[in-house]
Amino acid sequence: MAKTAKTKTPTDVAKLTTAQAKVEHMRLALELEGHDRRYYQEDAPSISDAEYDALRQRFNAIEKRFPELVTAESPSQKIGAAPLGRFRKVRHAVPMLSLDNAFAEQDVLDFIGRIERFLKLSDDKIDFSAEPKIDGLSMSLRYEGGELITAATRGDGAEGEDVTANIRTLEDVPQKLKGRNVPDVCEVRGEVYMTKKAFLALNERQKAAGDTIFANPRNSAAGSLRQKDPSITASRPLGFFAYSWGQMSAMPEKTQTGMIHWFERCGFKTNPLTKLCHSVEHLIAFHHQIEEQRGELDYDIDGVVYKIDRIDWQERLGFVSRTPRWAIAHKFPAERAMTVLRDIEIQVGRTGSFTPVGKLEPVGVGGVIVQNVTLHNEDYIKGIGNKGEVLREGRDIRLGDTVVIQRAGDVIPQVVDVVIDKRPKDAKEFHFPKKCPCPLHTDVVREETATGEEGSRARCTGEFACPFQKIEHLKLFVSRRAFDIDGLGEKQLQYFFDREWVREPADIFTLPKRNAKLKLEEIEGYGETSVRNLFAAIDSRRRISLERFIYALGMRHVGETTALALARGYGSWDAFHDACLKVAKGDEETIAEMDALDQIGDTVIKSVAAYFGESHNRGIVERLVKELNEIIDAEKPKSNSAVAGKTVVFTGSLEKMTRDEAKATAERLGAKAAGSVSKKTDYVVAGPGAGSKLAEAKKHGVPVLTEDEWLKLIGE
Ligand code: IVH
Repeated sequence: MAKTAKTKTPTDVAKLTTAQAKVEHMRLALELEGHDRRYYQEDAPSISDAEYDALRQRFNAIEKRFPELVTAESPSQKIGAAPLGRFRKVRHAVPMLSLDNAFAEQDVLDFIGRIERFLKLSDDKIDFSAEPKIDGLSMSLRYEGGELITAATRGDGAEGEDVTANIRTLEDVPQKLKGRNVPDVCEVRGEVYMTKKAFLALNERQKAAGDTIFANPRNSAAGSLRQKDPSITASRPLGFFAYSWGQMSAMPEKTQTGMIHWFERCGFKTNPLTKLCHSVEHLIAFHHQIEEQRGELDYDIDGVVYKIDRIDWQERLGFVSRTPRWAIAHKFPAERAMTVLRDIEIQVGRTGSFTPVGKLEPVGVGGVIVQNVTLHNEDYIKGIGNKGEVLREGRDIRLGDTVVIQRAGDVIPQVVDVVIDKRPKDAKEFHFPKKCPCPLHTDVVREETATGEEGSRARCTGEFACPFQKIEHLKLFVSRRAFDIDGLGEKQLQYFFDREWVREPADIFTLPKRNAKLKLEEIEGYGETSVRNLFAAIDSRRRISLERFIYALGMRHVGETTALALARGYGSWDAFHDACLKVAKGDEETIAEMDALDQIGDTVIKSVAAYFGESHNRGIVERLVKELNEIIDAEKPKSNSAVAGKTVVFTGSLEKMTRDEAKATAERLGAKAAGSVSKKTDYVVAGPGAGSKLAEAKKHGVPVLTEDEWLKLIGE
């Protein structure tokens, strides 16, 4: 079992072969998709912001070098995952975007350099609005005729959730804008947050009442906003700082800082630390000053934001897929604390994987009480990283050790070090279980990596025979993004499961007809109405979309995005099911067909084959399908722009805009702006001085447009 530590770092992106890049791109896309979902929908991120940023940076670097890997569904094209289906959806008139990150001073210099080049500035002085980056939830408030009409969360950036009733309970949000002559339509954007003090007090109350304990102020703000009953939101002290805007029928000011003062005149609170800066030195000094003040502030911040002050320049700079070119978040390093590790518990996940969780002597890190820490896997505890590299200079983690924990932003903390000097004599080494803690005590194996080596994740081999895995499967099945059965939450499911009333998905649908015997209405806390509602909810889900159905099956590596890609690729359940059975039998033609689908590759295919190769799983699926009335065919993606889905190459000098601006516009309209011409290119837009790319276009018979023809095509 013991593995010798070898130092291995991921291959430099510049050295990846096309095949390696394809695999890595897919793996990272799946990973990012999972993290986005946990962060945005479940308010339960599993890695630190810094780790997430590193994954995202590597992913972006791969897409930059291999632009052919970019698809419309790529995580680089989205801002977080889609919103929960609980509140009415609101389409944002202007998308709500996120910010690019800077960590080092050099990143800030690069940001400014890019702006100067883009705007072709020489001596012009750039002013910046420097603002604390509040660690809360962004909100878009729409006012019409000065009255608050809707309040929407960011959601996936294009569509958020309607939380108007809840937002109306916030003191910091005016129902009516103050002042005369306010523009007819004003979308004021900013951050909803909970103070650290209010967060700690709320957790005390929650604990006393046996309710959910929130991990941090951001999660508690999110939880407080997502209440169906606005009086609960009203009882939670939430604040709001205005810092940005969406649609405006007229612009009252010409600068970012001007807008911030205008928000104040309208009746909003804005962050008092916001400052107008005139140089990069000024920005860096601001970063240091705010970092020093961070601990004293009564709200969480995770960095500062720099924005170009002139709005006409912001407009010219525009956006690169998900982030504006005119703003950047300069992040702070993570916060750390020391505490004692009391115990290690093993959690068994849906796919049987084991996660050791460290139980800590509670400690405050940046205003948050931390009691649990993920220890990832057996190797991590021993001081060996995922790729065999040495962690913590090889120091292992023992029970009773004093550990340094780090909380980067609002995520689950990590152990970054062990203080050997403080190790007690009786500190115990942790023996990773060789048997699953489930009643079956099945053998535990370590997963293989893609290259066939022993991986670091341990899993139970019991599959559906392991009750931990079964229940986790069922939890996924009823969850919001899957079958979304109202009234059948984790608690109820566990109750039914423990009594063997529900052991597999089909059992949920047979509950109504078995109720003459079960008599759910006699269970404490249920009653006739809730049972009637539950059965109505179950019945309403006998019609389900193909993508939800595929996702709900809980195949490994098939998250929502992958499920959607499979659903769109096959269109109907019959076609998909047929393909899965063939893939499981190793039918090469079907495997090649699946591989050719956007976003689908080896990992997913292997997982589909493993799932449908098991007769037990086929039985589960068959029994479930019998209980349903309709699996709705998947829709092909729609888009109404003339260039959506097309690949365009810009070459030569353009007169009405810079090439970067042209690319950005094309991407906004759903087109892909590529760097080189191939037979897959749909249009080449050529300005004066175009050379080899124009020749390539002629060679491949690709239509060539002038700048004006292009503008006409896109309707500008
Ligand atoms: S501006 C188009 N300003 O950070 C730019 N965002 O990582 C829109 N945030 O979604 C954002 N403080 O939730 C901006 N002073 C500030 C901010 C801020 C916090 C959050 C916001 C945004 C996220 C981006």
